[in-house]
Amino acid sequence: MRPPARPEVSVQLCPGGPVLVRGADVVRDAGGAEHEVTRPVVAVCACGMSGRAPWCDGTHKVVAAKGAG
Ligand code: FES
Repeated sequence: MRPPARPEVSVQLCPGGPVLVRGADVVRDAGGAEHEVTRPVVAVCACGMSGRAPWCDGTHKVVAAKGAG
């Protein structure tokens, strides 16, 4: 019996923001910890400043605003 087809996983970089991951079951952080994905699309922090790592919490916008001033 064949296993069910897995959904295609795609990754989209958002300049100055998170990485959008579509179709994943798990996201593994830099330390190797696995985080279950329960949504069709998740935003993974790429700035390193999120208080909800590995997920983006919008802090990148504050960092960008401070850097622009
Ligand atoms: S990319 Fe959004 S908080 Fe880091």
